[in-house]
Amino acid sequence: MASRKILSVLIAAGLGCILLFAQEHSSSAFYEVRPDSDAGTSVHAQQMLRQGRETFRFDTFGDEAFWGNTLKLHQAIEGAKLGGVGPGLSPAAALGLGLKVDVDALPKSLIAQLKAGKVNLSDPAVTVALLQLNAVIGVTGKFDHRGKLQTVGIQCALCHSTVDDALTPGIGHRLDGWANRDLDIGSIVALAPNLQPLADLLSTDQATVRKVLHAWGPGKFDAELELDGKAFRPDGKTAAVLIPPAFGLAGVNLHTWTGWGSVTYWNAFVANLEMHGKGNFYDPRLDDAGQFPVAAKAGFGHTTNTTDLITPTLAALHLYQLDIAAPAPPRKSFNEEAAERGKEIFSGEGKCSSCHVPPLYTEPGWNMHTGEEVCVDDFQANRAPDKRYRTTPLNGLWTHTKGGFYHDGRFPTLMAVVNHYDACFRLGLGSREKLDLVEFLKSLPEGKHEDDSAY
Ligand code: HEC
Ligand code: HEC
Repeated sequence: MASRKILSVLIAAGLGCILLFAQEHSSSAFYEVRPDSDAGTSVHAQQMLRQGRETFRFDTFGDEAFWGNTLKLHQAIEGAKLGGVGPGLSPAAALGLGLKVDVDALPKSLIAQLKAGKVNLSDPAVTVALLQLNAVIGVTGKFDHRGKLQTVGIQCALCHSTVDDALTPGIGHRLDGWANRDLDIGSIVALAPNLQPLADLLSTDQATVRKVLHAWGPGKFDAELELDGKAFRPDGKTAAVLIPPAFGLAGVNLHTWTGWGSVTYWNAFVANLEMHGKGNFYDPRLDDAGQFPVAAKAGFGHTTNTTDLITPTLAALHLYQLDIAAPAPPRKSFNEEAAERGKEIFSGEGKCSSCHVPPLYTEPGWNMHTGEEVCVDDFQANRAPDKRYRTTPLNGLWTHTKGGFYHDGRFPTLMAVVNHYDACFRLGLGSREKLDLVEFLKSLPEGKHEDDSAY
């Protein structure tokens, strides 16, 4: 008996040593495979994926220096009662602005209280407590040792994640890569007490900046505003565009509605110029003062920082996004027979597959078109270097029906999109064919369903 006990103690001690050893040595030194072998590549891919996911969810790239320290957004969140300014942002108001809460970051006791309706959702102190739990998706509060909110930063997940509403609407498990079409990012930024830096950049006043931000509305953001200063389209509507999903991007050449560049190009762009993180960014296309007066003047195409918190994250962040698959639609969310017929029309009479080439549903190669080619105006295209629209990859369309379709959501439904193409290309589709085509669009990615074991 005694010797057995000694043996198990010895085994436990040995295991402990191995674990310690594993922790102390970076895993690249620990695995017994050559880094350039097949097994080494798999281990490397797993490491990169984990690292990229961390960055996507939690990395602010030091942007709290802008959102908190400079714009003082955290003071508007806590409100005057907690030492900030104004009424504060209650959890109910935060959820109303489309912010999402990660249920997996909440302690069990709080989940129980939420379920029982015992949490005061109109108290900004609760929002601050949620920030302290790191439970507000895409927003990170930094606290001092006394638990006082010092500043706040934002992450990629703010716009490109949502939750599955598992607990209540707005509170659930993370869905990375999904476009948050509820998020009224303009109204959130407009809460910031000090918008002077943005006003200075755009050569205007704070009241005008607030007006522009409030005009964006849910699910929209304007990444080009800080480049060209164009806040409204010629028809008077906001120049902001819909937040696209950040899944199903592998194999796609150019990204964003207007094809600014690759995934990693855009990540560097957005982390430096939009999130105001600390890094380096190079794009001499932004020196064109005719097209990008604001960016050219500010020298955005030659952004340098001695502390670079962005460039070291780009490789893993790139890989992570390429790995997020477009999610499969729930099995009963579309008519399978109609979708089968719609598939034939998509590649046949509808001529859709000449641009949306399956299974990527964008062109392999240079996936760009003028507005004229798809019968729309070129206002937004002209705000990007190539002055074209990128053929949108269509997998996972069912996840972002809110806010409409095309870059600015001008078509409220998929049927409206189909009707547009029918007129644009004089397809002469019958009403039954149009319905079939819509069912096919709802079924993408093809052949995959939520309850398939692989998903
Ligand atoms: C404030 C909201 C917001 C934040 C934060 C944000 N994005 Fe985006 N993202 C957008 C919008 C809006 C677009 C479309 C831009 C356009 O076409 O003008 C976009 C486009 C993209 C695309 C192109 C998708 C496609 O279909 O081609 C990728 C990839 C992407 N973002 C990744 C990221 C990553 C990674 C981060 C963090 C470093 C990030 N975004 C931060 C709003 C945001
Ligand atoms: C000439 C190339 C071309 C053809 C042909 C074409 N598309 Fe498109 N499609 C595009 C471009 C470019 C966009 C992006 C337009 C924008 O955002 O303003 C787009 C966008 C879309 C969108 C909106 C996606 C989103 O996320 O908002 C849908 C849906 C769509 N196309 C379906 C179709 C269908 C169905 C057909 C056939 C009837 C078709 N397309 C034919 C180029 C094409």
